[in-house]
Amino acid sequence: MVLTREENDLLTRVGPGTPGGELLRRYWMPVAVAAELTPEQPTRLVRLLGEILVLFRDRTGRVGLLSDRCAHRSASLVYGRVEERGISCAYHGWLYDTRGCILETPPERNDAIINSVKQPAYPVRKYVGMYWAYLGPEPAPELPPYDTLVRRDGRRRLVIHPVLDCNWYQAMENSVDPAHLQILHQEYIGRGRQPVNTTRGFTDDVADTDFYVTSIGIMKKRTYKTGQVDEHPLVFPNILRQGYSTQIRVPLDDTHTAHIHVMFEPTPDGSLADEAEDPPVEYLAPYKDPPDAVHPDAVYNLRSVLAQDHMAWETQGPIADRTLEHLSYSDRGIHLFRKVTREQIDRVQRGLDPMGVIRDPNHPMLDTNIDESTKVESGGGRPVGVGAPTPAD
Ligand code: FES
Ligand SMILES: [Fe+2]
Repeated sequence: MVLTREENDLLTRVGPGTPGGELLRRYWMPVAVAAELTPEQPTRLVRLLGEILVLFRDRTGRVGLLSDRCAHRSASLVYGRVEERGISCAYHGWLYDTRGCILETPPERNDAIINSVKQPAYPVRKYVGMYWAYLGPEPAPELPPYDTLVRRDGRRRLVIHPVLDCNWYQAMENSVDPAHLQILHQEYIGRGRQPVNTTRGFTDDVADTDFYVTSIGIMKKRTYKTGQVDEHPLVFPNILRQGYSTQIRVPLDDTHTAHIHVMFEPTPDGSLADEAEDPPVEYLAPYKDPPDAVHPDAVYNLRSVLAQDHMAWETQGPIADRTLEHLSYSDRGIHLFRKVTREQIDRVQRGLDPMGVIRDPNHPMLDTNIDESTKVESGGGRPVGVGAPTPAD
């Protein structure tokens, strides 16, 4: 069933006031690695859901996220100077605190403006070595207690992939597209075997694929002819959980998506790991040349599973035109994800929380199948993977 242009927009647009953007505004999103804010560089430009914001830490340690456009005459606050009370616009010195209150309006003091104007400000929390922001209506929900983010019996690290120069929904549709693993990634999953031919890749390893909706998303189930079962979830709306990785796709705007992997490796004996420090961070090199170009001007290097994925997602277009596609039986996970997305948009429009929004501060940890998927990842007879934690899907 081909989508209309209106349906394509519904699923892909992320800006304020769009149905999809309002859905995404019900979730906390990571916006920066915590170590990226330093005393020397206490401000940082943040793009999130089509908004341009400034993240800053004042000299007392409070972190704020404000609209980047100064309320006075629109200069960027990224170039502002931080002090104890907040951030002061570089142009004329208007001073804002982390809640967006205007404290000063140099050179004069204009109480009418101070009392009536507020800079758009969003809550920020530090979690798993990153700052997370919530752009939706108050009150903000709880940060998501996914096992890979909160379990203490293991080590975490962050891997920052290059920004995807395409819409977030392409990356998420890929997360319910198990058939592509045996084709697109055939060079990386054979463990020395040769595929029967390049067209089928390792497709014939797979007996069956299935999908089912859970309380937090969509479980993708792949059964191999060996009897091995590989189940890992799309955590609604923007996370793929696979192996050791929690792959968070953060919509920056309609055509750019941050791609952050939280890697969690449980200790073999269940012992607790010391979490005094933020997880180490690795920034990956671009998957294409030139790094800022898009298809057909960029050439993708395909040197890893994720490089192949980025190629596939970006070459679908900045926003894939789904009026042109021809879905087949193997695309039924994509059909299901679109259906779930529409249902969750509908919930938001009826004033309800969508799937996976947590309000209870004592909510138990959410199981994302980490033990099952790491068992598969670390061998277990799966005809896939290259030993250690190479993200595959
Ligand atoms: S534009 Fe920011 S203080 Fe004037
Ligand atoms: Fe993939």
